[in-house]
Amino acid sequence: MTDSREILAGTALEDDAAVEPKLRPQHLGEYVGQTKVRENLSVFLAAARNRGEPLDHVLLTGPPGLGKTTLAHIIAREMSAGLRLTAGPMIARAGDLAGILTNLQPRDVLFVDEIHRLSPAVEEILYPAMEDFRLDVLIGEGPMARTMKVDLPPFTLVGATTRPGLLSQPLHGRFGITLRLDFYDVGALSEIIARSARILSIRITPEAAREIGARSRGTPRIANRLLRRLRDFAEVAGKDAIDLETAREALARLEVDEHGFDELDRRILGTIIEKFGGGPVGVGAIAASLGEDRGTLEDLYEPYLLQAGFLQRTPRGRVASPAAYRHLGIVAPRRDGELF
Ligand SMILES: Nc1ncnc2c1ncn2[C@@H]1O[C@H](COP(=O)(O)OP(=O)(O)OP(=O)(O)O)[C@@H](O)[C@H]1O
Ligand SMILES: [Mg+2]
Repeated sequence: MTDSREILAGTALEDDAAVEPKLRPQHLGEYVGQTKVRENLSVFLAAARNRGEPLDHVLLTGPPGLGKTTLAHIIAREMSAGLRLTAGPMIARAGDLAGILTNLQPRDVLFVDEIHRLSPAVEEILYPAMEDFRLDVLIGEGPMARTMKVDLPPFTLVGATTRPGLLSQPLHGRFGITLRLDFYDVGALSEIIARSARILSIRITPEAAREIGARSRGTPRIANRLLRRLRDFAEVAGKDAIDLETAREALARLEVDEHGFDELDRRILGTIIEKFGGGPVGVGAIAASLGEDRGTLEDLYEPYLLQAGFLQRTPRGRVASPAAYRHLGIVAPRRDGELF
């Protein structure tokens, strides 16, 4: 993996894990951007608090690093509730989940990360638990087997997934609230960078914060990571603040281009244009041609390229947009008689 690929990965790296808890907003009011999500959630939180009930189950979806885990923490805090953290792949057997559920305190928030990775047997346990706060335990075997119902404390399940399409229909249907996180705009990212800089005691000019924001692939985690790397450059250069010049120089040395593209982004667009005539072409064919994993392309690369307008989705596959041609300095072919 090249350096720029690591720096621009939306997924958490080891050194993110150490600093992220410090940078995480604690209250909804500190959560930058995602206005619609924030406004809706604040209504649901207030209503649940007024009724003295746990919040309805919440499903959080969106690409890595956009703030799903952060929101789960905020939800628990805003409800003055305890938070239990687990993840789909960590719950191997139905009994594991039963253990977690029976140990919950009333009104606890149970956060299940990567909820699309629960096994069907584990999901079965979750249905009555979510619907009626009830555990159905099978006792005995064969004709003598019977189900015993165990009451659970009322709780809020907060599930997070980067792949909502992989969630089973019955599980999806049991969430009362679905919040879809989108990539952040440059304004929100600069605000996040300025906030993180204050917490980490890094001095940065507003112009430099904007420059980093523009190259962070719409992702707060990447913005915070770039900020930390740029602090190193500023320090070594003997500057007491990250200014625009330092930011541009350092970003160039890190091979982070003006759109936050890494080498694979450019290869993806280049392949579609040069090998597949600009598309339409299926993700599978692009992945095979690049010798890359299809899931990596679909989960980590395509969403941002689509949102930033470099790729378009059509029923017959992906198409490179005029912006993609421009970015690579290639003259776009004529399509339907028009200059594309
Ligand atoms: N709205 C926001 N305002 C300020 N900072 C944010 C916001 N969202 C995320 N962050 C920052 O980005 C970091 C990553 O966010 P978080 O861990 O919540 O992402 P995630 O969606 O759970 O990612 P993953 O899919 O990898 O689990 C947080 O530690 C926090 O510092
Ligand atoms: Mg997370």
